[in-house]
Amino acid sequence: MTWPTEAGTMILPALDPGTADKAIKTAAKILRQGGLVAFPTETVYGLGADALNEKAVAGIFRAKGRPADNPLIVHIASAEMIDDLAVNVPEEARLLARHFWPGPLTLVLESGGKVPPVTTGGLGSVALRVPRHPVALALLRESGLPVAAPSANLSGRPSPTTARHVLDDLAGRIDAVLDGGPCDVGLESTVLDIRGGNPVILRPGGVTPADISALLGKDCPVAAWHPGSSEPPLSPGQKYVHYAPRAPLFLVVGEKERVCAKILELVKRHHQQGEKVGLLLSSGHPAAALAEQVEILGKEGDPEAAAAALYDALRRFDRTSVDVIVAEGYEEKGLGLALMDRLRKAAGPRIIKV
Ligand code: TXA
Ligand code: MG
Repeated sequence: MTWPTEAGTMILPALDPGTADKAIKTAAKILRQGGLVAFPTETVYGLGADALNEKAVAGIFRAKGRPADNPLIVHIASAEMIDDLAVNVPEEARLLARHFWPGPLTLVLESGGKVPPVTTGGLGSVALRVPRHPVALALLRESGLPVAAPSANLSGRPSPTTARHVLDDLAGRIDAVLDGGPCDVGLESTVLDIRGGNPVILRPGGVTPADISALLGKDCPVAAWHPGSSEPPLSPGQKYVHYAPRAPLFLVVGEKERVCAKILELVKRHHQQGEKVGLLLSSGHPAAALAEQVEILGKEGDPEAAAAALYDALRRFDRTSVDVIVAEGYEEKGLGLALMDRLRKAAGPRIIKV
């Protein structure tokens, strides 16, 4: 079978029942041969390579332009593989895996030494996750490999939530992309350090601190780390500049009516300065009629819909000529916590509290 290509990158259609099996077999073969394949997960698309093959993993860092000390998540087909790759696995980790896998939770555990330092950033720990997407699971089973996979974007760009986003960043730099349609969650997994049985969230995501606390019956703090801090962050990814859109993004947070009034005021003010305004809003907002570009993130108070739409909206802003973006804040509850984490990173210092 010959597959369509873009700049030499194969596009393997995994949604079409007529081609899915063949597409997954082709992708698995490329991984076993040391190649790079992007694949859908329920969170975002990952850029996969055999986690135990140093040369293949080095290729991920090259393709993305990723700093070498930022470790990769190792994706596995089932919790049975934990003991192949990790040691001193606490009971709490097994309980979390039984409850949340397959799903958007990454567990940081003590490495057993089998996963090479190029994959783990030489940290002595290993981050494991069983993804929930059927295409990802089929690929993991068919390849028989632990698959190292960061998000399949160029370093510094938003994570990809469609095969189109992957190709926009990586066509010509990777062997293939498995197209499994848009991702459900739209934000990256929760990264949880669970060594010694003490949960610490290193990155908020689809599984919330409340979900984890409720299951373990203990507190689950979110690690705070700020640039300029004297200690290195627990998760190296925290110290790298995160994605920010080309136009400065102002994030307005506070009580609903006041946020609404402030957004209307900001649109007016930027128009007076002759600037084109982009808005990131839930539907039905009165400012939507006024701006040059409006990206609707779903219904009001629906962080799930907003999470699924966010990265595509940010990528669309980068393709147009707005001078400034104004975004509506969400309540930091449930998935709203991860959503606001990403919005705050996109805003940097431009957070307006009303
Ligand atoms: O949802 C996701 O997690 C997606 C999909 C593809 O699974 N992957 C993803 O990978 O977002 P990436 O590389 O973009 O983010 C992984 C994060 C980074 O912040 C990295 O520093 C952290 O996980 N990480 C990986 N291994 C770690 C370890 N051993 N200790 C602490 N942090 C680790
Ligand atoms: Mg990433």
